[in-house]
Amino acid sequence: MAKTIQAIRGMNDCLPTQSPLWQKLENTVKHVISAYGYNEVRMPIVEETNLFSRAVGEETDVVSKEMYTFEDRNGDSLTLRPEGTAGCVRACIQNSLINRDEQRLWYMGPMFRHERPQKGRYRQFHQCGVEVFGLNGPDVDAELIMMTARLWRELGIDKHVRLELNSIGSLEDRANYRIALVAFLEQHVDVLDDDCKRRMHTNPLRVLDTKNPDIQAVLGDAPRLSDYLGDESKQHFAGLCELLDAAGIEYTVNERLVRGLDYYNRTVFEWITESLGAQGTVCGGGRYDGLVEQLGGKATPAVGFAMGLERLVLMLETLELTDVRRSVDVYMVTAGEGTMMAGLKLAEQLREQVPGLRVMNHFGGGNFKKQFKRADKVGAAVALVLGENEVADGTVVLKDLIGGTQETYSQADVTAKLAELV
Ligand code: HAM
Repeated sequence: MAKTIQAIRGMNDCLPTQSPLWQKLENTVKHVISAYGYNEVRMPIVEETNLFSRAVGEETDVVSKEMYTFEDRNGDSLTLRPEGTAGCVRACIQNSLINRDEQRLWYMGPMFRHERPQKGRYRQFHQCGVEVFGLNGPDVDAELIMMTARLWRELGIDKHVRLELNSIGSLEDRANYRIALVAFLEQHVDVLDDDCKRRMHTNPLRVLDTKNPDIQAVLGDAPRLSDYLGDESKQHFAGLCELLDAAGIEYTVNERLVRGLDYYNRTVFEWITESLGAQGTVCGGGRYDGLVEQLGGKATPAVGFAMGLERLVLMLETLELTDVRRSVDVYMVTAGEGTMMAGLKLAEQLREQVPGLRVMNHFGGGNFKKQFKRADKVGAAVALVLGENEVADGTVVLKDLIGGTQETYSQADVTAKLAELV
């Protein structure tokens, strides 16, 4: 036998048994975002490598270690997108979407990072992201957080996620803080691990993110970013906190929250769950007021977030919130001369008369027993049975596959009964 080929490590199929839950999640997400008047944008999966190194930052883990970068046949360096914000900003600049107008956008799709795969962390994963351009007040930041809170409620996971919030100030605030932080880290260099030693010079704020408990203990005495925030950043953050308080959204301010991508300023936030183990961040985002200009556009304030869909699916599974709509309502069972044609015709008629009804035809022959077994296997609620007699007198037998009862209807009357299944 020929050798079988496996999928790439960390890149998963979404199988027919899993896709109904994915569809339910995606539909709920789209429904909630649309309730705020946001519009979908779709970007290419491949972009010029430069876009990500300029936007996300050369020194970040994403750019320095995790990108899928290759040369195409023209010799250009291209990269499979590791995230959506950079491409979204590029699309807005290129298509003049934000010269005069504000934009409220969302996207959904696969992202690629060469990380070590584990539960909740994959090399191809899916994000839904939301990006708003042209608005600088804390009111938009608050709306985005309220939008995510609404989504958690709709999904039924709101009791299992918590919000962490921080302000990382302006570029200038951070430059001042950076000097103080590096001076502190230099005094404690003997406790730092290799990763932190490297970051101390390349991206010192990321040292605050360390999971190493010994280093965390030392960081308790580190200078605090909040002491370096300018008045405008402070006011912006206070404004956001006030709006969230008024909206009844609980949060904790985590002064160590800095996020792993370089483009952020002011507000940063993450929604975290304890139900998934190590990969507990289901959603992260913040302001990135400098990025549009940095990528060659007109200076435009911006804010957004992205959530990891695999992690949300895992949460729904862990919390057993996996009820989904049946994929088949009616299984069409036929036996006898001319019944297959009549069955196909009746199924078409039902799809027209009962919008949303899911009707599956039986193919491949076999006796009633075999056909009913198949109907059970696909999870149909009812079977419609057409024999030669039913075809002759325009009736159909409806067998309730859950209750076990059966009744004969005229083909015209059965639609009312089937409408109850949708
Ligand atoms: P991020 O924090 O890098 O932010 O990713 C957002 C979310 O994507 C994470 O919270 C996590 O749920 C999910 N995620 C990230 N990496 C993986 C992975 N390897 N496997 C599974 N899930 C993953 C961004 O990407 C920013 N673009 C978000 C943003 C939009 N900020 C402003 N606008």
